[in-house]
Amino acid sequence: MKFTVAIDGPAAAGKGTISKAIAAEFGLAHLDTGLLYRAVGAKVLAGAEPVAAAEALAPDDLTPEDSLRTPEVAQAASRVAADPEVRAKLLEFQRNFARREGGAVLDGRDIGTVICPEAEVKLFVTASAEARAERRFLELQGKGHAVTREQVLDDVKARDARDSSRDAAPMVAAEDAVLLDTTEMTIEQALDRARAHILLKMK
Ligand code: CDP
Ligand code: CDP
Repeated sequence: MKFTVAIDGPAAAGKGTISKAIAAEFGLAHLDTGLLYRAVGAKVLAGAEPVAAAEALAPDDLTPEDSLRTPEVAQAASRVAADPEVRAKLLEFQRNFARREGGAVLDGRDIGTVICPEAEVKLFVTASAEARAERRFLELQGKGHAVTREQVLDDVKARDARDSSRDAAPMVAAEDAVLLDTTEMTIEQALDRARAHILLKMK
């Protein structure tokens, strides 16, 4: 069955982990829309103009994934993401992806509200800022990035504030989204809840 799953929420809440697992399990394509903004942010850090960088974005820009997953690039992503013109340049690609033949999972901040308001399944995944920062810190440390806990918590809090207060497609749960607070959950528990919700919606 073809359906679209929209997964939104703040930094390091577990959106990507849940999206990847759900996509594999239900045979859906997956798009991490944060990577698009990170790729634009990285280009801006390298001197590009934001709107031009968004317009020229190519598949190759998304491949050096690890270098896009630093707090510095995350901050740059969150800054360019507040620009409505940048968002407009990235809209069609995301909508086309969502309309794919076999169905899709997209994760980000505005999937259930702006990109796919018609999605059959919407989840808003969250957790306390401290829990999210600790997870992201361990993840970055594991990949050999030289970051401190403080730096990661600062990044998470600054992006939470900027992403939810901007005028253009702010981070907010869609009215019909199911809230999933994973602060006290393992990945398996969070996945069980996500899976149960999808099965219920698709019955
Ligand atoms: O995509 P998003 O930024 O929302 O988060 P993620 O990349 O899926 O998860 C961030 C980190 O938290 C990863 O290292 C996950 O393995 C970990 N995680 C966790 O420890 N417990 C959860 N319930 C969910 C994610
Ligand atoms: O992985 P994490 O949740 O830390 O961040 P991300 O999903 O890679 O997103 C990086 C930044 O891109 C966010 O802080 C947002 O400012 C922006 N973003 C957005 O505005 N809209 C989306 N659909 C996805 C990301």
